[in-house]
Order: sequence, then structure tokens, then C-alpha cells
Amino acid sequence: MAVTDAEREAMGRALELASRGPRGLNPQVGAVLLSPTGEILAEGWHRGSGTPHAEVDALSRLTPGQARGATAVVTLEPCDHTGRTGPCSLALIAAGVSRVVYALDDPGERSGGGAERLRAADIEVVSGVRADAVRALIGDWLTVQRLGRPHVTVKWAQSLDGRAAASDGTSRWITGPAARADVHRRRSASDAIVVGTGTILADDPSLTARDGDRLLSHQPTPVVIGARPTPPDAAVRRHPHAPLFYDTHDLGVVLADLRARGVQRVFVEGGPTLAAAFLTAGLADSVLVYIAPVLLGGDRLALTDIGVETIARAHRLTIDEWLPLGDDLLAVAHPSGLEEGD
Ligand SMILES: NC(=O)c1ccc[n+]([C@@H]2O[C@H](COP(=O)([O-])OP(=O)(O)OC[C@H]3O[C@@H](n4cnc5c(N)ncnc54)[C@H](OP(=O)(O)O)[C@@H]3O)[C@@H](O)[C@H]2O)c1
Repeated sequence: MAVTDAEREAMGRALELASRGPRGLNPQVGAVLLSPTGEILAEGWHRGSGTPHAEVDALSRLTPGQARGATAVVTLEPCDHTGRTGPCSLALIAAGVSRVVYALDDPGERSGGGAERLRAADIEVVSGVRADAVRALIGDWLTVQRLGRPHVTVKWAQSLDGRAAASDGTSRWITGPAARADVHRRRSASDAIVVGTGTILADDPSLTARDGDRLLSHQPTPVVIGARPTPPDAAVRRHPHAPLFYDTHDLGVVLADLRARGVQRVFVEGGPTLAAAFLTAGLADSVLVYIAPVLLGGDRLALTDIGVETIARAHRLTIDEWLPLGDDLLAVAHPSGLEEGD
């Protein structure tokens, strides 16, 4: 079904509106209502969990009957699910819109199906309009829906001989300034930064994302996993976000709780025990290894046991990128068998 220039333009506007909403548990969604001649009647966006969805927000700006014959342009398929708010599909049908144009299908088992319901009510439905642009905004949210948990990146820095620390436990700094700056940028693109109690006790990290001494504008929430208590004067307690402490080794439980808090991207920064636990549990979607031209020897390996008792059971990785960073080299990889970028 042909899409008009006005509808394509309205999708761009809906995308702008969507980006005003908070990133988190719910998708960022924007909606524009167009008159039959293509003028904008109303705009709306979703402001987060428990608030009206974008379509309903836009409809609420019109007088009864004003949306009759209108076209709704929405970044995500209108939901067909009664949660804390009613289904958008029914709201659009009740308002009398005659056409719905959207970008991406709603992947939710319970929320999807809105397009079908709209078609059954004789409303024209067109999907896939500017889908790539919308995917760029809510890709992380879509990944969480597909995986059923946040996306996990496991990162470590190692010597050329595969060590994560010297024999006294010191590991600062294995890599140079360019590699460390790269880590900080990637931290800032995450929602949570995770370490085990071993790292807290050995390194007392602040777990902030910085450019030199300056805090970057987005700070991931610091997360500490393990039974041992974090000292009252630990640097992580001075983080701009209150740290989350999980007295468990069950990483599934931790990820489920983080998901419920709206976390979409998790950055695991060690140490070797926790990194190995994520890899062994099959919970690493992406692996970042910063390799420095330094030799440490000894037994402080970058990973503890990951259950590879014979070479046939090696965790094979597929390289997405080899990136030189000063004298260091970053391997960006994902477990072979997982789709790239999963
Ligand atoms: N090179 C690097 O990139 C890097 C990064 C970070 C740290 N390090 C170095 O690594 C060393 C610390 O190593 P580490 O292995 O002790 O640190 P770690 O992995 O941060 O902490 C290990 C602790 O995490 C807890 N834990 C939480 N979930 C677990 C699970 N599923 N399985 C097992 N344990 C779990 C356990 O503590 P509880 O007993 O308290 O439950 C465990 O002893 C230091 O020398 C530090 O400098 C290096």
C-alpha cells in the first residue's frame, strides 16, 4: 500500500517525539495524527511506564469525533494489550481513524497483534515505514524483548600472556590511555556496570564513566554481585547513582531484576571470576578484550574455569572488529552461533 510524503514526514516527527520519552522498561514511542488531507491534527508520545501510550496521548488532544477519518502515524505497532492502560488498537478504532501507518511490529507476545485487530475493523494498516530509523532508537529495547533479559557485554583487559593482574592482585593499569578512554565511552553507553565483590575489594573502583576527570553525561548504575560486604567508605558508594548490591551468585536473578528496573544494556567489568561465570552461563552476548603489549606471568589469568575440559568444547568467538587503541588492541567479538550484534 502506498505511503504518502506527508505520512513519511509524520513518521520522522513521530520519531522525534518518541525520543523525548524515557529509555527503560517500556519502548519510546511517538505518534502523529494526520487529517485526511495530510495536516497534523495532534501529536503524542509515551512518557514511561503507567502513562498513556503515544496514540492515546495524541487522541487525548482532540475533541470527540475529530479523529474520524484520520491517519495515525506511529513508530511502533499499536498495542493490543490491556496493561496499566487499555489497548491502543481499541482506542484508535473507537476514535474512528481510517488508516494506521507504523514502523515496527510490536514483538511482545501479549502486546502484539494490534495490526490484525485494526485490519479486522476495516482500518487500512501499513507497516515498515522508516523502520531502520525507528530501530536505531529502540534497538536495545527490542533486544531485551527478544532475549528476555538485558543485553550483556563482558569486558576485560589482559596482558599479551592472558593475565588480568600481577601476582599481588594489582591490575592498574594494564592498558594505555586510549584503551581506557574507549572503555569509559562504552561504559557511558550502558545502563548498568557490573563487578564482583572481588574487584570491589581489590581495586575499590568508582565505576563512573569519565573523560579524564570529567564525568560523562550518562552514568550507568553500578552493580556489585557477591556475598562479601562492600566497605562503607568504598568509592562506588560515592557514584552519582546509588549502587545495587546482589548477595547471590545467580546471574539470571540479577539480570531479571535489572530488566525489571528498565536496564537494557549491561557492561560486566570483572574480574576473572565473574567474567567466567557470565561466559559459562551463556549470558555473554558480546565480549570485549583489551590486549596490552605487556607480560605479567603468574596465575592471575583473565578468566577462571569456564568448563572447557577438552578443546572440542572451547567457547568459539566470532570477531566483529579488531581495533587498535594506542599500543593496545581491542577484540570485539560475540559467541559463534549468536547473530552479530545480538
Ligand atoms: N584486568 C581486568 O580487566 C580486571 C577487571 C576487574 C578486576 N581485575 C582484577 O581481578 C582481581 C579480582 O578478581 P576476582 O575474580 O576475585 O573478581 P570478581 O570476579 O569481581 O569477584 C569475584 C567474586 O564475585 C562473587 N560472585 C558473584 N557472582 C558470582 C558467580 N556467579 N560465580 C562466582 N562468584 C561470584 C564472589 O564473591 P562472594 O564470595 O563475595 O560471593 C566471587 O568471589 C583483582 O586482582 C582485580 O585487580 C582485573
